[in-house]
Amino acid sequence: MSKLDMNQPAIRPRRLRAGTSIRALVRETRLAPGQLILPLFVKQDSGEPEPIDSMPGVFRWSVADAVEQAERALACGIPGILLFGLGRERDEEGSPAWHPDGPTPRAVQAIKQAVPEICVFTDVCLCGSTAHGHCGVVRDGAIDNDATLQGLARVALCHARAGADFVAPSGMMDGRVAHLRTALDRAGCKGTGILSYAVKYASAFYGPFREAAASAPAFGDRKTHQMDAANAREAVRESQLDQREGADMLMVKPALPCLDILRRVRKKVELPVVAYSVSGEYAMLKAAAAAGWLDERAAVLESLTAIRRAGADAIVTYHALAAAQWLKQEAK
Ligand code: PBG
Repeated sequence: MSKLDMNQPAIRPRRLRAGTSIRALVRETRLAPGQLILPLFVKQDSGEPEPIDSMPGVFRWSVADAVEQAERALACGIPGILLFGLGRERDEEGSPAWHPDGPTPRAVQAIKQAVPEICVFTDVCLCGSTAHGHCGVVRDGAIDNDATLQGLARVALCHARAGADFVAPSGMMDGRVAHLRTALDRAGCKGTGILSYAVKYASAFYGPFREAAASAPAFGDRKTHQMDAANAREAVRESQLDQREGADMLMVKPALPCLDILRRVRKKVELPVVAYSVSGEYAMLKAAAAAGWLDERAAVLESLTAIRRAGADAIVTYHALAAAQWLKQEAK
């Protein structure tokens, strides 16, 4: 090869990056408000929104304020919300979680009445209602899987009867999808879907959420049910199992530390895959942005695009409202 050839590459990938228009034309991954789901914390009382220290910009809302947030989301093009009820009562079995006057069923009802088009997902777990903060019924110091399923079915039915479009069991108990599907069908809730947290790791990135929901376990940890971050094949197994048990959609959680998992799961199952960009991911970006170390808008949109690129069809993110607004500005 002559010296001249070496200085003049025959192939120039930069042509496809030369201007805004060509970059838009060859873009492989699209990110749109229609792919986002906004999580909302709903409290029991009707007082002012309560800020959460480790999640700046995220609040515990009253039912009335949650309705307003749902209206805002839909107006921004966000088609779904994921509700976390924060009840005041707790007991050994977590029974306040299936009380029809609890914050989740009340919020579901009010939101479906005011904004019927929005798709309402509800988190189904016991950790916010058990005295010990564990995701299930504890017997002899360990979570009893099968006793927990019965409680989860009661929670799912309570949410379904209030009008939830999809219940989202988040506790990683074995057999939960089949158990909930059967319970819903028997109760005549055939139209209520299941978004299964199929792949949920025992992650350090849930810390701020546990502050928000006061759901940290009083003893021990969640490693006997949530997955070991070192495992990837197990994620495929869990996903295929939930697909077979009748889940309508699958969740992978957390998102940024699991991009490889999203890709693997995407290839091995046909169901829609939702990534949950969790509280710790939000807190990291917020803290760095507040310190002036990161450009929040650019870092958030890049992260969400990476999650989509890895294989997520939709993304649960606390940045949903901001991201939807940024995306709208970009589209102009
Ligand atoms: C309840 C639940 C948790 C999250 C969602 N549902 C906490 C946990 O498993 O400890 C975490 C969400 C987040 O960090 O944003 N089981």
